[in-house]
Amino acid sequence: MAEVVAIADLHKYEGQDVTVRGWLYDRTDKGKLQFLQVRDGSGICQAVAFQNDLPEDVFAQIRGLTQESSLIISGPVRADKRAPGVPGGFEVGIKEAQILQIADEYPITPKDHGVEFLMDHRHLWVRSKRQWAILRIRSTVINTIRNWLDDHGYLLVDTPIITPAAGESTTELFQITYFDDVAYLAQTGQLYNEANMAAFGKVYCFGPTFRSEKSKTRRHLTEFWMVEPEMAFYSLEDLMDMEEQFVSAIVQRVLEKHKVELEILERDTSHLERVIPAFPRISYDEAVERLHKLRDEEVDPEKKALLDIEWGNDFGSPHETALTQQFEKPVFVYNYPTAVKAFYMQPVEGRPEVCRSVDLLAPEGYGEITGGSERIWDSQLMEDRVAKIGISRENYEWYLSLRRFGAVPHAGFGLGVERTVAWICGLQHIRETIPYARMLKRLYP
Ligand code: 4AD
Ligand code: MG
Repeated sequence: MAEVVAIADLHKYEGQDVTVRGWLYDRTDKGKLQFLQVRDGSGICQAVAFQNDLPEDVFAQIRGLTQESSLIISGPVRADKRAPGVPGGFEVGIKEAQILQIADEYPITPKDHGVEFLMDHRHLWVRSKRQWAILRIRSTVINTIRNWLDDHGYLLVDTPIITPAAGESTTELFQITYFDDVAYLAQTGQLYNEANMAAFGKVYCFGPTFRSEKSKTRRHLTEFWMVEPEMAFYSLEDLMDMEEQFVSAIVQRVLEKHKVELEILERDTSHLERVIPAFPRISYDEAVERLHKLRDEEVDPEKKALLDIEWGNDFGSPHETALTQQFEKPVFVYNYPTAVKAFYMQPVEGRPEVCRSVDLLAPEGYGEITGGSERIWDSQLMEDRVAKIGISRENYEWYLSLRRFGAVPHAGFGLGVERTVAWICGLQHIRETIPYARMLKRLYP
């Protein structure tokens, strides 16, 4: 058989014989002509079987192929603008074919299925065109995160997944048995990042994060991937400067590399093209004012109630959605009330009821994709905080000691991969942005 090539590379082989190995995505029966859609993971191409070109038994086999049967085909590559596929425009004329397995009746057909059914068949659903597109974009998002940080002087320092204490909040912890002790799955690598920051200056950790969120929203997973950069001597303003460069680089890289995938997802890319620095920055106070104005202007009583917010409360999804719809780019909201944020955030000087925190809210209603802050670096203040929230000092001794051995102002944030991918891909729900979603009611497959 001819040289094995990837469907994505077919354009390089026009006029030559090639071999393609993969699975049958779809087939159209035109009698003497069989139009196969073959996928190999890199793309989908049309492959044409003509009765007169093939031994009788081989043609009969092709005619009997079921969806997702595995096969190897060989023949010449022909350019044809009309040839469908991903990316399309080239087809293979089948001269030889070897069928590896005739697939059983495939549960996912081109007709519409309910989401729960598809999630139950996630191990097969990942083969579908839309899912293929989303997970390829996810891979590029992750890759760009790493490359950008590596190229900008950040060192990857891994943080533990099994931890003795809470990192973010004491609710939402997954508890595990650790020999004779209890331990928790990491909610964040941040506390360790702060130790590593003092060793390496600019660091990041990047791994799975666990939160036993009982919420059933379209933005929450119980297992999600978060990248967390942490920088010595960074202020809140430095943090926002860095975040807007970082997030823009991710979005622009996906635009560059994934035209085909974004087309499959029917994503309006004009929204993404605008994602370049600088991003608008508003304080929590201003955000609340804007929400009050929107509430007052709203005529629908139900929507009016949803928009209502009292100063001091955290934003819910309806608030974030409404806010982001006012901007064309991602928007930073900074200086949140201290009471709704984590214990380690630096209070604003002269106004301790708000803290030097910042969330980045994605446009088109997507809401929070990053959360970060300046960290308290004064030893006594941190001691007071830990005492006040009633977490056991013993488990935090190492963390507290960081404030006694060369404390410096520092800041960092976490970016959720899945929320970022959902926004870039324009998806309604976060569950399709991770290969195997874990949620309140989802642990299978
Ligand atoms: O705002 P969060 O909770 O921040 C932290 O964990 C900090 N320790 C990060 C830091 O400063 N180093 O989470 C950060 C981001 C959110 O903005 C969101 O994108 C994502 O993580 N995230 C979730 N994504 C999916 N499902 C969940 N349940 C998520 N919780 C947070
Ligand atoms: Mg947050």
